[in-house]
Amino acid sequence: MAFELPPLPYAKDALAPHISAETLEFHHGKHHKAYVDKTNGFVTEKGLEGRKLSEIITHAKETGDKGLFNNSAQVWNHSFYWQSLSPEKQTPSGKLADLIKDGFGTPEELVKKLVAESTAHFSNGWGWLVLDGGKLKVTSLHDADSPVAHEGMLPLLTVDVWEHAYYIDYRNSRPGYLDAVTANLINWEFVAQNLDGEGVSRADQEG
Ligand code: FE2
Repeated sequence: MAFELPPLPYAKDALAPHISAETLEFHHGKHHKAYVDKTNGFVTEKGLEGRKLSEIITHAKETGDKGLFNNSAQVWNHSFYWQSLSPEKQTPSGKLADLIKDGFGTPEELVKKLVAESTAHFSNGWGWLVLDGGKLKVTSLHDADSPVAHEGMLPLLTVDVWEHAYYIDYRNSRPGYLDAVTANLINWEFVAQNLDGEGVSRADQEG
C-alpha cells in the first residue's frame, strides 16, 4: 500500500490571515504531495513495501540513503506540522501547563525561545518542542531531519521554517511568520496529547 497525502485537519482557509489558503494550497497540495510521491517511487524501486513510514525513515538513516531519508522524513514532518496548528486560539492547561511553568516560567517565554531558536536556524529546517528526559526542550533540526531519526527525542510540536512555509504570506520575513503562528495557531491540545511519548505515531502511516 502506497503512502498517502494526509488531508489537512482543517479547511484550507481556516488559518487565515496568519497562514493563507494560497500558502496551504502550495505547501500541502504541492510540496508535501511531492515528498509523498517521491517516497513512494523510492519504496517501489528499492523493494521496501510493507514498512511503516517511521521504519522507512530509520532504515534510510541507518543505510545513509539521503534521497529516501529526505523525502520520507519530510512526509512525516509535514504530517506532524499540520496537526501542530489549530484555527482555534488555545492556551496550555493541566500537566502541560505545569511542565511549561517548570521549564520556562510562562507559555510566552516558551514561545519566545521557540521563535528565537527558529529565527536563528540557518537556512531550511524545523523548530521543535520536544520531550527530553521528561522535560520540555526547544531545539531545531536541519533540512529534512526529524525526531523520528533521533532516539529519545519525543516530538511535541513543530514549526516549519523552510521558505515555502512563509514566502507567499510574509515574503522573506521568517520572524513575522513565526510571531503570527506562535501567537495564534499553536495546537496546545495536540502538544498535551504528545506528552504520552507517542508523538511519532501521530504522523506515521502503515506501509
Ligand atoms: Fe514545508
